Amino acid sequence: MSDHVVGSKSFAAVAINCASKAGEWIMSKVGAHEVLREKMSPHDLVTEVDKGSEKLIRSLIMMNFPNHSFLGEEGVEPGPEASAKALEDVRDAEYLWIVDPVDGTTNFVHGFPYFAVSIALAHHGEVILGVVYDPWKDELFIAEKGKGAYVRGRRMNVSSEPTLRDSLVATGFPPEHATALPRNLAQLQLLAPKVRSIRSSGSAALHLAYVAAGRLSAYWEVGPNSWDLAAGALLVQESGGRIGDQDGTPYHLGVRNVLATNGYIHDELQAELAKA
Ligand code: IPD
Ligand code: CA
Ligand code: CA
Repeated sequence: MSDHVVGSKSFAAVAINCASKAGEWIMSKVGAHEVLREKMSPHDLVTEVDKGSEKLIRSLIMMNFPNHSFLGEEGVEPGPEASAKALEDVRDAEYLWIVDPVDGTTNFVHGFPYFAVSIALAHHGEVILGVVYDPWKDELFIAEKGKGAYVRGRRMNVSSEPTLRDSLVATGFPPEHATALPRNLAQLQLLAPKVRSIRSSGSAALHLAYVAAGRLSAYWEVGPNSWDLAAGALLVQESGGRIGDQDGTPYHLGVRNVLATNGYIHDELQAELAKA
């Protein structure tokens, strides 16, 4: 039996079960969520659905793997310092689950059908399993380290655009407006005339899954957190793409200024982002 199996349930089976249960519950709350609070600003929302989804996922994981560690967005105070501290606190964990219970909360609140549940498992700091589930489309993206990435059971491959001018790229509008948003906007302005087009659909995890599936050539953003990126990062890598910090550092859990591409346009896009 491989070390991916504990008792009778594989890590992947538990992650898929968590994502589908949470997704079903989230969908039952579309248009019917109750409490809406602002975190850092009106651009950063949290509902009782975010909290409930995280609670559900956490208890299912802990039931199966009581010795594992857990890092979920809703257990961390807003802001980059608290995020860095939370990651530091679990640095020595053997197995660490990293969860964004609803990635795309603004979309969820507005009924815009583009949000996901993101669940990753890291072993000594290296992501070995990533699941991103879009409950609206009932589309599940999954990757296991060294075993490829799949959507709806079909193997995924990144796209093959060789240059920026052929590329469809995506970004976000960072909720942190002091430094992240202005930098991201400068990059957007610089890139818009150089690429085929730009999308900003409101879920970092799904943008990464779409890079993995070859639907986007690249995704970049200034300032997302570990829980926005961990699962999607493995999807991109296992689909043949490249992901890391915009400064060229390969992906690790602490990366925030993310650049994920099909590989072919990586150096070109990285060089352009650095000019902004
Ligand atoms: C946000 C989304 C958004 C991205 C932000 C994230 P949330 O996550 O992924 O697309 O631009 O940086 O914070 O708050 O909806 O979980
Ligand atoms: Ca998120
Ligand atoms: Ca979230």
